[in-house]
Amino acid sequence: MSVHTEIKKITTHTLLEMKRKGEKISMLTAYDYSLAKIIDTAGMDVILVGDSASNVMAGHETTLPITLDQMIYHAASVVRAVHRALVVVDLPFGSYQGNSKEALNSAIRIMKETGAHAVKMEGGREIKEAVERILTAGIPVMGHLGLTPQSIYKFGTYVVRAKEEQEAIRLQEDALLLEDIGCFSIVLEKIPAKLATEVSASLKIPTIGIGAGNGTDGQVLVLHDMLGINKDFNPRFLRRYMNLFEEIQNATEQYIKDVKSKDFPNEKEQY
Ligand code: KIV
Repeated sequence: MSVHTEIKKITTHTLLEMKRKGEKISMLTAYDYSLAKIIDTAGMDVILVGDSASNVMAGHETTLPITLDQMIYHAASVVRAVHRALVVVDLPFGSYQGNSKEALNSAIRIMKETGAHAVKMEGGREIKEAVERILTAGIPVMGHLGLTPQSIYKFGTYVVRAKEEQEAIRLQEDALLLEDIGCFSIVLEKIPAKLATEVSASLKIPTIGIGAGNGTDGQVLVLHDMLGINKDFNPRFLRRYMNLFEEIQNATEQYIKDVKSKDFPNEKEQY
């Protein structure tokens, strides 16, 4: 029997055990109670309350505008729905960079006000002090390397990262550093599959890939992208499991017709 089916509640230790046994880890984002309930019931291992909420929930072009208060609102809604998955929450841009005391306060607010189980932070050596300080408070931290959308204005584009040797070496060093200081897992976003496979093999903690090939210990996608709610985002790494934009549009058009034609409500649908 797999770790996945034996376990009633997923913890950071379960994920380590899954890596040890070679069992892949499933992770999806969620930002609200109703969808979190569906994906938890389906058996998701990890639910990420990503700062991608800034894009898919609020319609911003980048993840930078979302605030700590807004992340807390989304995370608390998700936690109320979840019984089994490990819930990880992104520390948003501006809530941890450059000030480890502020980083700790932000992480404590997330843990206290949402009931989530861990936080995620983008970056390597440059956020070492903040990660260490959060870990000393007993808060589990998931790292995030490769394409780190909170630094989009530094990169200039969303293209594949670490294709050049120098950046690949830096990423490998950062992954080892994050493991050494105590992160329980690392997201690897949009890097060459070969590099992601090598990094994953060099670590004891599990890696979760997005656009990083099949050699990572788990996979993550943004829920709204894999459900086809968001039609305009079509990177090569994205597999769509539904076309919900069209399905919701068709249902809405039918509802409008039914209301206009006085077909809705009918005799059975009234008191
Ligand atoms: O915010 C997010 O959704 C993420 C994932 C893409 C890993 O960080």
